[in-house]
Amino acid sequence: MKKFPVPYALLPKPRSICLTEGTFAFAAPLRLRVPEEWRLHGERLVHAFSLFGMKVVPAERVGNESIEILRCETLKEEAFGISVVPGRIELRAGGSAGGLYGVVALSQLAAAAAMSGEEIPCCECCEIEDEPEFRWRGIMLDSVRHFQRVDVVRQVIRMMAAWRLRVLHLHLTDSQGWRIRMPWMENRKPEGGGNREREVYSPEELLEIAKFASKFEVEIVPEIDIPGHQLGFLRCCPEYSCFPDRLSGELCISSPEVKRFLTGVLQEVVRQIPSCRFIHLGGDETETSNWEACPSCRKLMRERNLSVRELERQFMTEMCGVVRSLGRTPICWCSDAEPPEGAVMQAWRISWSDIGKARIAGCPIINSISQNFYFDFPLDETDPHASAMPILNEEGIYHSSPYFFLNREKAGNEFLGVEACLWTETVPEWRVLRKLETRIQALSECAWTPVSERSHGDFLFRRMRLENSAWTRFANNGQLFGGFPFS
Ligand code: ACM
Ligand code: ZN
Repeated sequence: MKKFPVPYALLPKPRSICLTEGTFAFAAPLRLRVPEEWRLHGERLVHAFSLFGMKVVPAERVGNESIEILRCETLKEEAFGISVVPGRIELRAGGSAGGLYGVVALSQLAAAAAMSGEEIPCCECCEIEDEPEFRWRGIMLDSVRHFQRVDVVRQVIRMMAAWRLRVLHLHLTDSQGWRIRMPWMENRKPEGGGNREREVYSPEELLEIAKFASKFEVEIVPEIDIPGHQLGFLRCCPEYSCFPDRLSGELCISSPEVKRFLTGVLQEVVRQIPSCRFIHLGGDETETSNWEACPSCRKLMRERNLSVRELERQFMTEMCGVVRSLGRTPICWCSDAEPPEGAVMQAWRISWSDIGKARIAGCPIINSISQNFYFDFPLDETDPHASAMPILNEEGIYHSSPYFFLNREKAGNEFLGVEACLWTETVPEWRVLRKLETRIQALSECAWTPVSERSHGDFLFRRMRLENSAWTRFANNGQLFGGFPFS
């Protein structure tokens, strides 16, 4: 039988893996020792190994045939090391995230061993050291154009954890509606059409999503998209527009009432998702004609000697200040206005100048450039929307550089990482998981493994191995973490 060396078991590809002498036999039952505070990681390991027919039992003392998970102060929070020697596996992790990712990597070794064809599953002894290149390894879900129920969001989070992704950005408002409930919605509904009562997350649901995410080392980034993309909202609150009888999607950016109202909204976001460290303020795709005609906006431009785009930038800078005053970091999409002060910029257009402007302004950058990271784009020609949007297959993602056209040295430290965006104009809830599962492997490696270490052929082989062992299926349908109180 043809044997595949253990490096082919792992995806994303680790920083370093060295084969050492001997083999480890996954002979039942293996004993497992875990620090008390990481009991959840232990339960996850027991469950994941059971999927491949392997029995692991918790034990106070470990000797032969054992697995031990240890906290290692010298490793970074997301880093882990694995030593496989005959009769013993040791997983060392810097923090809880590293512990989770180490358990996930061990479950991939178990899957490979189960495929070894031996009577007792075994894998080669090895030393693995691993940590991600980027902290920002994200997915954005557009909860507006099509809504996702909490169960689907949970499923996305489980899938993200299996592929070691860390940030779930929820696009909660747009012209078609708001999916975060606000006190003022008691008597007014910001709707662009078809927004039903159930298509709003209650405060309890958002809190539940954030708590669930944190168990999987995923953080939630809520987005309130301003000052554009607000037509539905302005239909129910026209007093916040420049011209109540001639609405566009834009809020009036000179209005003190708008700023007061949005301050209340942002306070409410923080109240509902207290764990959020970032708040996304949108800022994309604004149209200036109403601002240019509005007496109040024109007055402010004149007084401050500003162009319309400069006024827009001041407005966004003020709102970023509100986010900062709430102890959170603001994020904005790159737009036609210059980057607001102190924001993280998320690049999405195929535009070198967006990146250039963000770099000159000294803003940290998230790479979501559409041609590589818009997951609503069709995977292939069989997609019903293939003629309307560019194809984005796995190879396109895999070959993309998180640093755009720069190399690592030129880029410096301003790139936080990558985020795939799943816009849902064409993606109903039932297609969300499918849209993600076809490309999430490439995203995972793109965000985790430095470009210089990547090879597409090698990736394809590892991906195929994980699929054949059923690991990928367990990862994508949530079974890898499923069936326990913690799920
Ligand atoms: C965007 O696609 N408007 C960020
Ligand atoms: Zn105005």
